[in-house]
Amino acid sequence: MAAAASSPYQRYRPASQHRGQAFFRPRPTRRPVVAPAPPAPTERPAVAQTPGHEPVLDIQELKTYFFTYDGVVRALDGINLQAYAGETTGVVGETGCGKSVTAFSVSRLIAEPGSIISGRILVNGANLLWGLDKEAKFRRVGRSDRVRVIRSFRHVRAANERMSAVRGKGVAMIFQEPSQAMNPVFTISDQLGEAVLLHRGVEVYEELLRADAGLVGPAAATAAPVTPGEPLEQIPEAPAPAVEPDIDGLLQVAATGRPEELRIKTAEVAAAVGLPSLDPELFYLLRNVGAQAYGRRKRVEAVLRRRHLSGLQRRYLRHQRRLAIIERAIKDVYLSEMQRERSRTGTRSRLRFRLMAERWRHFYYGLPGVTRRASAPIKREMFWRTVVMLEGVRVANPVQVARGFPHELSGGMLQRAMIAMALSAEPGLLLADEPTTALDVTIQAQILDLMHQLREKVGTAILLITHDLGVVAEVCDRVNVMYAGVVVESAPVKELFRRPLHPYTQGLLAAIPRFDQPTRDLATIPGSVPNLIRPPTGCRFYPRCPYAMPVCREVRPPPELQGEEHMVACHLYTSPEEGATAAEPTGVKLPIAGAPGAAGVPAPAH
Ligand SMILES: Nc1ncnc2c1ncn2[C@@H]1O[C@H](COP(=O)(O)OP(=O)(O)OP(=O)(O)O)[C@@H](O)[C@H]1O
Ligand code: SF4
Ligand SMILES: [Mg+2]
Repeated sequence: MAAAASSPYQRYRPASQHRGQAFFRPRPTRRPVVAPAPPAPTERPAVAQTPGHEPVLDIQELKTYFFTYDGVVRALDGINLQAYAGETTGVVGETGCGKSVTAFSVSRLIAEPGSIISGRILVNGANLLWGLDKEAKFRRVGRSDRVRVIRSFRHVRAANERMSAVRGKGVAMIFQEPSQAMNPVFTISDQLGEAVLLHRGVEVYEELLRADAGLVGPAAATAAPVTPGEPLEQIPEAPAPAVEPDIDGLLQVAATGRPEELRIKTAEVAAAVGLPSLDPELFYLLRNVGAQAYGRRKRVEAVLRRRHLSGLQRRYLRHQRRLAIIERAIKDVYLSEMQRERSRTGTRSRLRFRLMAERWRHFYYGLPGVTRRASAPIKREMFWRTVVMLEGVRVANPVQVARGFPHELSGGMLQRAMIAMALSAEPGLLLADEPTTALDVTIQAQILDLMHQLREKVGTAILLITHDLGVVAEVCDRVNVMYAGVVVESAPVKELFRRPLHPYTQGLLAAIPRFDQPTRDLATIPGSVPNLIRPPTGCRFYPRCPYAMPVCREVRPPPELQGEEHMVACHLYTSPEEGATAAEPTGVKLPIAGAPGAAGVPAPAH
């Protein structure tokens, strides 16, 4: 990474010469506004990195603006941020600082009137902003501050298609507003089930086909394809003799009325049949029935018959599996395009043709009556898989929640349903936008624990957006502090809590209530986050900063490394003016009522 420049003043330029600042200044003539090119690697500013790691997410000089009637909202103005595999990276800041816009930009869900202007977003080496310059042109309206965005729908659609290759397994997101993220006209199981089919369809179809053929245990392991997507010819068309599950034993356990034992038994029976989703179905059928369990034999037998498919259903599943394999291959092509930043139109067209041919050859599966009968096993399978997913996020009544519509659920339940959806794909990068804000404290801990388990199991890189510095101290490895669309400080969590450098970070930490000082008044940062349509020139924290200097009003502070992994953007650490360089960070005392100073802030829990 770039180290601090030999003379910080080499970087200083008057505000009028800043490319980003001059971008939308009213001009006398009507002419196109050219977005600034992303910086070459050598021009990149100092970014705090963990040496020896390749980041899963690498955001470079990202600018996202909203083109409103009042003017251009510079929501992100050149941010740099990294997230590493198996680590949790926190993003903190006051409301309106651009935390959610960062997450939306990474998942490319910035909607009108917003647009990503420039920058690079690399996820495992794939540039999600490849071809961005072709997606939109920006024109000023007359001599006003208004900017019109002219989008090229062909290129926007191509970018959306490319993103489908990354979403789910590559990048998943937990939204801050679950009620807005869910479709109100579909049940929870429909929505969660669709997400699973989209990302793991091949595995689901293969599991159903194997169970139908009676292939369980070692037989399934040898007969089934090792790699999902390989030919399934080994699985016989006609079902093999079914493995007889122990129905008597199951009813006996159900009659004892002990749910823990029943759960073990239902899992045993489901494993014997080769369809794990039978486990919750049998469990919720026999739970709390007591001595009446023996009267439910016929229903248990009916549930177990679910694994047998009709000829139509078997053929339909094989057809769906073929489609899913081709779609997966198309996604792989998109992914390699973003990694190499080179188009592979020929390969993609050939695969699209195969997909179309497969659909046309079996067009009759699309007829309404046929689809309903043929897809019944998938629907039922997805319902019970959804129940298992909801159990995973500690929903107390998962069957009712799976059947419910979003408006029938409380905010916390909806939040958990969405967390289940995001975790189901076992993503490489999880963007968690205030995932625990709507939850009770006890559930919060369980959800954070769940995310931790995912991190340990799959090596997921988690970008955790939160207001709660307690949560940051507890679960994060690194922290990025955002203020008014800029990352002002970034450091490993212990380092940041022990040695906060930026006055804004110091103010945030000083505002944490402390048990060891119960009589102390809580510190506040005077003022509020500026209007991002006309943000302050120079440092955006200038109007609220107790250390503001003349240079701060004029010049935007460049990010500088202070130690190996500690980045800060503040003239206190770059400018030799007015004794600024003499400001020893650990000795800095905030002139804010009750502030304990940098040295006195609480240390993280781990
Ligand atoms: N659709 C939009 N149109 C105009 N401005 C927007 C839009 N969405 C976000 N913004 C602006 O972008 C800035 C950053 O918003 P963002 O939602 O990222 O804040 P945040 O840090 O997530 O805040 P919070 O902690 O309240 O969730 C805000 O100034 C907001 O007004
Ligand atoms: S650059 Fe100046 S105004 Fe900004 S935080 Fe540092 S000292 Fe304060
Ligand atoms: Mg937000």
